[in-house]
Formats: sequence, structure tokens, C-alpha cells
Amino acid sequence: MSTAKTLDGKTAVVTGASSGIGCSIAEQLGEAGACVFLSGRTEESMLESKKRIEASGGRAEVITADIRDPAQVRGLIQAAVDFTGRLDIMVNNAGVGFPASIMEGDAENWRTMLETNILALLVGCQSAVKAMRACNAEGQIVNISSIAAQRNNSGVYGSTKHAVNAISATLREELEDDTIRVTNVMPGVIATNFARHFDTQFVEGVAKMAGIDVKLTQGERIPPEVLETLADKMKQVLGHPDDVARAVLFAVNQPIEVNLADIVVRPPKSMNLGG
Ligand SMILES: NC(=O)c1ccc[n+]([C@@H]2O[C@H](COP(=O)([O-])OP(=O)(O)OC[C@H]3O[C@@H](n4cnc5c(N)ncnc54)[C@H](OP(=O)(O)O)[C@@H]3O)[C@@H](O)[C@H]2O)c1
Repeated sequence: MSTAKTLDGKTAVVTGASSGIGCSIAEQLGEAGACVFLSGRTEESMLESKKRIEASGGRAEVITADIRDPAQVRGLIQAAVDFTGRLDIMVNNAGVGFPASIMEGDAENWRTMLETNILALLVGCQSAVKAMRACNAEGQIVNISSIAAQRNNSGVYGSTKHAVNAISATLREELEDDTIRVTNVMPGVIATNFARHFDTQFVEGVAKMAGIDVKLTQGERIPPEVLETLADKMKQVLGHPDDVARAVLFAVNQPIEVNLADIVVRPPKSMNLGG
């Protein structure tokens, strides 16, 4: 965890901050001095993060939003600007994955992935750039993609992450003459609630390998102590959300003339979970 207040005076928005990678990113940005706006649908866990950020001397606000609605994404950025007068860091992190073959996949799950992983991220990028330009920020946009974007046969979820890579690269070029940089982060398999839509028997089997006996319900959150134990006992194949957050913190702390374009953060061994 960082203690240096390198982001003092900066305003940051993090989507998907109620769980996993986004939660770690929000807390590390807050500990580094940014005023962080945490957004997600689950208020309780974001209020816990707000408390931890404030205990470290930082500032944080919680905004519940369903980012599948573009108006709510715009409203989130507007709220940050209304409150602090600026926007410096935008982390488009919220995402979902429903593993299924194309022939067995469900169109509503595809819609959810397309709207959350692509549409919300696009609206987040556009609104954030407008807000950053309006306050002459040295802005940092961070888009959370996936190592699934490094393979062509990574399913519908993977195709949303290919889109994230393309959007990041396109926006980076559009912003070459602005003081705004774009970093695309591709995590490997990380122990988070991302697995909530996976086959429960599969996730329970992975937990068993770490010595954990747990009964899960598909679509519901995985107990935090299970995730922590998994990350701790299976370090070779499962990363910790803090690993990704440290990479994001490193990227947003670079001078504005340096663009860390793409970052892959993964555990040493690869395990194909569709992540
Ligand atoms: N974990 C991995 O192995 C892995 C690997 C590569 C990439 N990623 C990417 O990392 C990002 C973060 O995922 P994670 O692993 O941290 O999973 P996670 O623990 O399930 O967190 C996902 C976050 O996105 C939020 N979210 C989902 N749909 C939303 C919506 N419609 N409106 C608002 N918030 C919404 C969730 O909020 P609520 O829970 O409050 O609904 C939650 O805060 C995603 O983009 C994912 O694709 C993950």
C-alpha cells in the first residue's frame, strides 16, 4: 500500500469500485491523496472503502449508479466536477463476464456485457475527457481490459475486451495533442467476484484446491474471506486485486509527457478462466 500523497489535489472517478479490482484501485488512489468518487451498485462495500480512505487521511465520496445507463455515467462525472471543480483521473473498471459458448450463450447476458464493458466505458471516456479539458487537467484515463484481449478465441466476453483495447488505442491517438494520457490495463486471472457468474461447481472446485469448503450461489458475491484465502494460497495462478491497483497507481503517477500505453498484470502461471 502506498503512503506517499502523490495525488494530492487530484480528483478521481472509479467505476466498479464496490468490489475486487476497482475497490483496490479506489483505495490506493485515495491513500495517495486523490479525492476519489467510488461508483458501483452495492453501496455498503463502497462506504467501507470510504471509511478506510478517510482513515488514511484521504477524501472519498460514494455514488451508486447503474452504468449501463449512459445518463448515470455522465451524472457520476458531473457529480465529481460539481463537488471538486475538476477531474484528473478516470478509471473505467466496471465489467462483467458470463462464460458460455456462442451457441449456448444468452442474448440478455451478451447485452449486459456489451453495455457494461463497452458502452459504459465509451461514455465514461468521452465525459471524462470533456471534464478534464474544461479544467485544463493533466488527465489520466485508465481502461481495464483483460488478457482475454490477447487471444482471438476468447468468446463474447473476450470480444468486449478486444473492443476496450481498440477504444483505448483510438482515444490515445485522438488525445495526442491534449494533456490527457490513456492507459489500457490487461489483468490476468485475479481473485474477485468476477467469478460470480461462473459455474459454481467449477469455482467450488478451485476453492477446494486451496483447502476451502464453500457452497456458492451463481450470480451472488463470493465471501471476501474465500477470495482472500484463494489469492493467498494460489499465488501462482490467482492474482490479488492490489497487484492491478499498484500498476494503475504507477501509471497515473507518470509525468504527463509519458504514456504507459498498455500494461499486462498477471500471476506467474496462466489459468484460462475466461477472464
Ligand atoms: N478478475 C479477473 O480475473 C479479471 C481479469 C481480467 C479483467 N478483469 C476486469 O476487471 C474489471 C473489474 O472486475 P473484477 O475482477 O474486480 O470483478 P468484480 O469483483 O465482480 O467487480 C466488478 C465491479 O463492476 C461493477 N459493476 C458491474 N456491473 C455494473 C453496472 N451495471 N453498474 C455499475 N457497476 C457495475 C460491480 O458492482 P456491483 O457488484 O455493485 O454490481 C463491481 O464493483 C472488469 O472490467 C473485468 O472484466 C477481471
